[in-house]
Formats: sequence, C-alpha cells, structure tokens
Amino acid sequence: MKLAQLLFSQGFGARRECEGLILAGRVTLDGRVCDDPFHEVEPEGLVFGVDGKPWPYHERALILMNKPAGHECSQKPRMHPSVYSLLPAPLRRRDVQTVGRLDEDTTGLLLLTDDGALIHKLTSPKHHVPKVYEASCKHPITEQQLARLREGVVLHDDPKPVRVEAAEAASDHVLRLTLTQGKYHQVKRMVAAVSNRVESLHRVAFGALALPADLAPGQWRWLDGPEPIFGTPGGTRP
Ligand code: URA
Repeated sequence: MKLAQLLFSQGFGARRECEGLILAGRVTLDGRVCDDPFHEVEPEGLVFGVDGKPWPYHERALILMNKPAGHECSQKPRMHPSVYSLLPAPLRRRDVQTVGRLDEDTTGLLLLTDDGALIHKLTSPKHHVPKVYEASCKHPITEQQLARLREGVVLHDDPKPVRVEAAEAASDHVLRLTLTQGKYHQVKRMVAAVSNRVESLHRVAFGALALPADLAPGQWRWLDGPEPIFGTPGGTRP
C-alpha cells in the first residue's frame, strides 16, 4: 500500500491532506522521515509516526474505553460532552461508533469500532454476549429482589418479562448483574421494578473482556481483534 493511501485509511484526512502531511516531513517510518507519498509499505503490524506520535496500523478500529461519568454516547450530545470527544481526530474521522450505549452517568467498559458487522454481532440479543454491571443501590439488596431479577420483571415497553442471566449482592448495597440484552435504561428500570433504585452504575465486563484496572476514566486503548470479546466474563484481559 502507498504511504498516502495508508494514512488516508487510518483517518488522517482526505487524500490530498495525507499527501501534504507526508510532503511536509511530518510522517516517519522506523523513526525516519519519509517524504514520498507513493512509498510502498506493508501495513500489517506497521507503526508509523505523525508529528512524533506513534500510530499502529489497524485495518479495523476496535477501541476499549473506560467511560467517565458526564459523557453522552452520541455524535450529537445534548447536555454533556460526547465520548467521541475523548478520541483523537483520526479515530473520529474513521467514524467509529459505540457498541451499544451507556447512559450519561454510567461509567466503565465501552467498546467503539468502525466495523458495522461486529457492532451487530455484539449487540444482537441472538448472540447472548454477556455484559456485567455493578449497581450501587439506594436500599439494601434482598434475596427477594435477586430472585425476581433472575425470574424476570415486566418493563412498561414490553409485555414479555426480561430477566438477568445472573444477579448477586456484591455487598449490602451493591448489586452485580449479568445481562445479555441491551434495552434502554435496562438495569435502572429492572432495579426500579423490584422496588430498589440505582444510584450509580458501572460496567465491569463485556463478553470475555474485563475493564482493565490500569485504565483511568476517560482513557482508551486499542484492541487487536474481536476474538477475545466472545466468551464469558473473567476470561481474557486486553
Ligand atoms: N442499563 C442502564 O440502565 N443504563 C446503562 O447505561 C446501561 C444499562
């Protein structure tokens, strides 16, 4: 692949802009400036530099973010900044999308990708990808509440009961729930349906991925491929 085409594929602007970056000496290969836009490169495994910052080539972008509170999972946020504002411009230009949405006040593991087929696979209820949440609740958690969540509760927009895959009390007021669907405000509404109230919500796992302990709120990292996501929580860490 030609260097200018590679930059274009990674979100560094229109073809002309990419050529301009290269001609201006702002792009490095193996630490040395390459000012030839038509230089042939092997993209797989390549780490190139733009303005001194290393950038690993990814045919598809797949990102794991620790979503901070106070951010909306929307390209057109209404009240708060968007999670997309936490990403560098090349990723935003690649049109990465969140895999499902977390509420503005929910924190934790959020995936973003430019792979539409993967988004479908990860969000379709057919694929049963588990998501694990920790909900701090206003009232102490009771055995009866846990049993009702496991058996299923009816939410106002669907006569069919929805149930959690697993529910346990991590402490008096902290509920740990595993869900395989992703309905609007699902955890908050299910907890309200059993007469408790979510005061804060944090997603700790998505498929086999756990939120890495060293990823601070607002930070993100590349994932190298979708394979480790499919599976059960507690498995692979990125
Ligand atoms: N359930 C909710 O209620 N909110 C979220 O952000 C995610 C799941």
